[in-house]
Amino acid sequence: MADNIELTGPIGVFDSGYGGLTILKEIRRLMPEYSYLYLGDNARAPYGTRSFDIVYRFTLEAVTALFDKGCPLVILACNTASAKALRTIQQRDLPAMKPGLRVLGVIRPTAEEAGELSATGHIGILGTEGTVNSRSYDMEIDKLHPGFTVVSKACPMWVPIVENNEASNPGADYFVNKYIASLLESDAAIDAVVLACTHYPILYPKIRKAVPEGIKVVKQGDIVARRLKDYLRRHPEMERKITRGGDCRYLTTENPEKFTGLASVFLEEPVEVSHIDL
Ligand code: DGL
Repeated sequence: MADNIELTGPIGVFDSGYGGLTILKEIRRLMPEYSYLYLGDNARAPYGTRSFDIVYRFTLEAVTALFDKGCPLVILACNTASAKALRTIQQRDLPAMKPGLRVLGVIRPTAEEAGELSATGHIGILGTEGTVNSRSYDMEIDKLHPGFTVVSKACPMWVPIVENNEASNPGADYFVNKYIASLLESDAAIDAVVLACTHYPILYPKIRKAVPEGIKVVKQGDIVARRLKDYLRRHPEMERKITRGGDCRYLTTENPEKFTGLASVFLEEPVEVSHIDL
């Protein structure tokens, strides 16, 4: 009898730090019925300037920890981890784990929507050095929308600004204006700028001001949330494994008090945080 009871667990959401909270917020807004477990590797953020091997190893450790906590599905709410670790984890590591576990990223869903984002077919991508150098967006967009032009710009100062809670201070303006100007100078036909790092929406008010009005500034949260909902509709065998309850717990590799302070600002609600060693 007991064998027929299917074990359920929360949806795991992973990021190097606070950035994934911008994705989690939209996922919870669209699917408030599920339970969630967020893991921020704040002690080792940023990932954006780290090598392929290190990002892969750190990401695999985090994903394994979320599986160990009972998550049947983990979302890499981090472009750098999606660019550098997702494919290897899906192809090499998952087949050796318990059957039925899944990991999804944020690049593919964003690339799928590129056609709806741009009329000129010229898209600007702002991301970490790791994401930009991986050329993952160029390859995914080219596969799905041949003929599109992708112009990418790494913004190495933006994640440290966010992780240090400086996103709304005047000092951040200099670096916001600098990277936007450099991206737009490269291609005058860009009509959509994708914030291809989950930390960047926290700088949205400054970014929106720096980008001319006729150009869209695209946040990924809503795209990832809609695509995840669609994935769960198409995969009822996974949907059944997700715990319902609407609760959300948080894990950080840093000090929980530090995480709580900043996370509550981003999420506008109190959060329950525990420390985890990876
Ligand atoms: N938020 C992450 C991303 O989307 C990475 C930031 C970092 O750790 O450098 O790329």
